[in-house]
This record gives sequence, C-alpha cells and structure tokens, in this order.
Amino acid sequence: MGRAVLRPFSRKRPRPLIALNIHPTEKRWFFVAVLLVAVMIGLVVYTAVAMSVHPPSNVEAIDSTRLHLTPEFAEENLGVKREKDGAIVARVVMARYMVHPQEIRLPADTPIVLRAASADVLHGLHVAGTNIATQVVPGYVSEVHTRINFDSVAKIGIQNGDGSVTVPLFCNEYCGLGHQSMWGRVIVTRK
Ligand code: CUA
Repeated sequence: MGRAVLRPFSRKRPRPLIALNIHPTEKRWFFVAVLLVAVMIGLVVYTAVAMSVHPPSNVEAIDSTRLHLTPEFAEENLGVKREKDGAIVARVVMARYMVHPQEIRLPADTPIVLRAASADVLHGLHVAGTNIATQVVPGYVSEVHTRINFDSVAKIGIQNGDGSVTVPLFCNEYCGLGHQSMWGRVIVTRK
C-alpha cells in the first residue's frame, strides 16, 4: 500500500491560461501611441484655453437663396449694430465673390457677436490677427462670440491716423475662380 501524498497548499503559482509575451518593440510603440494621444489632447486644450480656438457650436438654419428677403440679412441691416440689450453684433453676407459689407468697424476688447451667412456656396470667414475664423455654410448662420485683442491686430494691421487699425477679412475656403478677390476690411477701434 503506497503512501498518499497530500499537497493541499502547493507553492507553485497556477499557470496563466494565455501566456502574455509582449515583444519589447511592441511595448515601446504602445507608449509612443499613448504619448501621441496625450500630446494631441494637450494641443486641443492648449489652443482652446490659450488661443481661444473653439469648435463651432451654433446651429441655425436659414434659406440661403432668400437672404436678401430676411429681416436680418437684408442689405440695409448688414454691418455693425448695437442691439437693444447692448450687444455689438456684426452681420456679414458672403457671396461669390464679395464680402458684404466691404468694411466694418468693431471696437477692441469688447464682447462682440459676428453673424455670417452665405448666399451661395461654402465660404470661410477669417479676420487676420483675431480668432475669428469660421466656415460659412450655405443654409446655416455662422455665429462667433469673441473679443478682439487690440495689440494682436495692431501687430499686423495698418495703423490709421485716428488710432484705429485696419485688418483684412477674407474668405479662406476655396469657393470658385474668384475666391482670391473675396475680402473686406475690419477697422478695429480702441475701446
Ligand atoms: Cu469665398 Cu473663397
């Protein structure tokens, strides 16, 4: 009769069902991938906080073929207006190949709202030296809430005799053969 060998508490660890052998190169690339994601998230946060670059958030439909018949984007209502609640609102229509109106005056370091609509195809609206840069998609109103920093526009703009600065406003989405002539002026005045 043989002796029963009882080994209830084996010191040996159970073997894993799948042996995970990660190659050192794969491990290294895993960290590179994680680092890339972290850098990209960091860039998004940095541009949002330090450079005021935000994704568009306004969804407002409009019939692009009838802009001139709407009370808001009719020709006589375009340009800069102070609303009843005190807000400064600039309205612009982008159409091949013009920006209407050709010139707008905006105060610096003041909250402003820019509302733009396209009368035909996709345009882009960019004001040099500011964070105003938005697509103007036909069928929708693009709205930008911002403050223009006087020093940043003064750095690149044309100084006027009265202390204001002129910067260009231009289309930055290729919209056709006359795209390069689609631009206007923004006169930024000191607060
Ligand atoms: Cu409008 Cu390019």
